[in-house]
Formats: sequence, C-alpha cells, structure tokens
Amino acid sequence: MAQLWGGRFTKETDELVKQFNDSLPFDKRLYEQDIRGSVVHAAMLGKQGIITDEEAEKIIEGLGTIKADLEAGRLTFSSAYEDIHSFVEAHLIERIGDAGKKLHTGRSRNDQVALDMKLYVRDEIHETDALLKHFLGTILKIMKENLETYMPGFTHLQKAQPVTLAHHFGAYFEMFRRDRERLSSILDRMDTCPLGSGALAGTTYPLDRDFTAKELGFNRPTRNSMDGVSDRDYLIELLSALSICQMHLSRFAEEMILWNSNEYRFVELDDAYSTGSSIMPQKKNPDIAELVRGKTGRVYGALTAILTTMKGIPLAYNKDMQEDKEMSFDAIDTVKSNIRLFDGCVETMRFRKDVMAASARNGFTNATDVADYLVGKGIPFRDAHGITGALVLHCIEKDCALDDLSLEEFKSFCDRFEEDIYDAISLKTCVEKRLTAGAPGSASMKKAVEEAEAYLSGR
Ligand code: ARG
Repeated sequence: MAQLWGGRFTKETDELVKQFNDSLPFDKRLYEQDIRGSVVHAAMLGKQGIITDEEAEKIIEGLGTIKADLEAGRLTFSSAYEDIHSFVEAHLIERIGDAGKKLHTGRSRNDQVALDMKLYVRDEIHETDALLKHFLGTILKIMKENLETYMPGFTHLQKAQPVTLAHHFGAYFEMFRRDRERLSSILDRMDTCPLGSGALAGTTYPLDRDFTAKELGFNRPTRNSMDGVSDRDYLIELLSALSICQMHLSRFAEEMILWNSNEYRFVELDDAYSTGSSIMPQKKNPDIAELVRGKTGRVYGALTAILTTMKGIPLAYNKDMQEDKEMSFDAIDTVKSNIRLFDGCVETMRFRKDVMAASARNGFTNATDVADYLVGKGIPFRDAHGITGALVLHCIEKDCALDDLSLEEFKSFCDRFEEDIYDAISLKTCVEKRLTAGAPGSASMKKAVEEAEAYLSGR
C-alpha cells in the first residue's frame, strides 16, 4: 500500500488526481532532511517511553538503511508514493515491520513537512553563504591589485569623476556583504523547530519538544502549533534575500557586459567564459553574464509566486502550501549557480587598465577638480562652477581635454589660474586627493581593504 490514508476511502484515487496531488517528483530532494527529522522523532518517542527503546532503535536503523540505499542508488523513488514522507514511511514498514508503523505516533505530515522545509532552507542558506564568501574573496583580491587602477566613475552612464577599479569593485563587495548579513539574520529568526506541532493542535502524547529542537540544531520549539505548521515566512524571507542578491548579481553582470563591449573595452572576458556566434566569425559574446542577468526573472518569479500563494490561506495547513517547493527549489538552485558562475567569470577576466585610464582622462572627469582648485584660490564654489563650465564648453569646441589648455587660455577665463593647475587636475591627483572615508583615494581604500580582509577572515 503506497498511501498512508486508505482506510476511510472506498474508491481508488483517479490517476490524474493522483498525479496532480503527488509531490514526490519534486519533494524527493528532501529525503535527507525527512530522514534526519524522523530519526530524532523516533529517538524522542523512545526516550519518552511512547514507544520502546528497541522499537526506536529498529526505526533508526531502518531509516539509516533507507538513506544509505537511496544514496547508493539501490533504492529509487517510485511514482507509487504520494510524497517523500509516505515514501520513507512505507519503505520503513516494509523493512522492519510493525515497529515502523509506530514512527508517525504524535506526528503529522503537516509538522513533518514544515520541519523538512526548514531544515532544507537552513542547509541551503549555509551553502549560499559559503558561495558568497568565496565570491567576496575574489572581489577583494581584485580590489587589492587595483588600488591605483584609475577609471571613470559614472552617473547617468555619463563620465562623472575619476575613481579606481578597487573602489568600483568595493561597492559590489558591500552589496554581497549585506546579502550575507541578510541570510544570517534569516537564520536567527527561523531558529525554531516546528516538529511536535502535530496536524495543527499539538498532540496528547508527552512529547519532549525541547529535546527534538536541540537535537535538530534549533534554538527552541515553535511557540504556537498552528503557526508551527503554517509558517512559511522564513522561505519568503529567503526568496526576498535571494532576489536582492540576484539583483546585485544582475547589476554587476550588466556592467561587465558593458565593459566588455567594443565601445568600452575596459575588460576582456576569458575565452572559457564566453561563447561564439554561428554566423559571425568575429564574435565573442558575454553569454554567461547575460544569463546571470536574465535568470533574475525566475528568482523574482518565485518570490512573487509564494507571496501570492500564501496570501489567502486560512489557518492552519492547506494543500496550497505544497506549492512552496518547486519554484523555491528552482530559485535557490539558480542563485547558487549564478554566484558560482559569475565568480569564475570575474576571477578570470582581464582588465585593460590603459583603456580605463585613457577613458578617465577624457570626458572632463576632472572638471569638479578645476572648480575645487579655484575655490582653493578664494573663488566661491558657485562662481568656480560657472567658470569651469565655460572652460568645458571651450574645450568641447576645441575638441580637447582641460589638461590640454595653455595657462594663457586658463587665465583668459579667470586670472587666479597658475602653473599648479596642471598638477591639481592630473588624474592621479584627482583620485588620490579623495580621501574621505569610503572615497577612492588609495590611502582611504587601503583602510577599506584592511577592514574587508578582517571581515572575511572573521576577525
Ligand atoms: N506534500 C505535502 C506538502 O508538501 C506534505 C504535507 C501533506 N499534508 C497533508 N495534510 N496533506 O505540503
């Protein structure tokens, strides 16, 4: 008998209904978490004298053989079973007989699936965090090597002021660091064990919920059994945090696509992370970065889907909640593979430092510094801004950079200009004088790099 609930029924389930209702095709990936929870539940039942110690031992041993057989490929998921819970329980009974029929004492699939999903999400958060940590290491390495790699910073995608590659990548370091913090705070909030909530109203058996919570690595049991079986907030929070992380990946990917374009030429993606065209022999396309950007849709989709599924569900468990799985699994898999792939893409790409510096030198990225120079010579900033604007217009007409003007030309706009203007607006000065905390000047960035290193090494 593949079903857990035949007793009350007089007819077989319609085949299409069975297919529609079954979740084994996708919740089979929860087998390890399901068995982990059942092992602890059985141990607790034994400890509390609800079943005998021998029965508990038999159950635990039987569950161990099921896990080992699944992992060795000796046991496969047959479509006869409704879900992972039925699959494991039926196989247990088949293997150990009557003792197996006692495993589900004081438990419902409602608290069981609530536990399985929580354990799964917790495991996945740890894995995602490790990937993010590795990616941060890659970003930090590039920052350290490029404290004096000058490039234009942009606003409105127009050249604005010069920065460094270290500074630009430092911004992404902060984003992915916050993503890790978000994951960690979700772990704190979801640190409660739903097992023992029963179907919705707890149970009459003397369960030791503190024991199961501790054994399964939770801080404490959930406080309300109805909430215990119907809370999926932590999953929504995870999908929200993953959506934000994915948004960061997508922005980063978008920039690398731009930088890799024939117009920018700031970077060259490695051949191993690029693809060709079937018709245009010259093409080397940034498909990996584009896919990272493109996959953002499915991650946001999963968040929207679960928010919508949950919004009208009366307490407590309803079958709608089975829909929490497929798209969440997909979103988690997607973000993890995106981080891994994009980490490799960034790690292997080549930076064209000469092109970056040349780009920073034209486009008037030092115009603010010309105005600041005049302020230093006693001109009020608003007037200095106006004079510099007129100088820029003059340069545009002449098709030259501010640095190319002669001192006489400078003086014809304002007599305060002296020979020291050239040094004051050189690319190096413009960057290195920006020393406020968080600014691109290398002395300032060195501190940021040290702080980032301490953070990554857990100091
Ligand atoms: N497959 C179900 C799910 O994923 C397990 C819980 C079933 N509980 C029930 N009362 N039908 O939600």
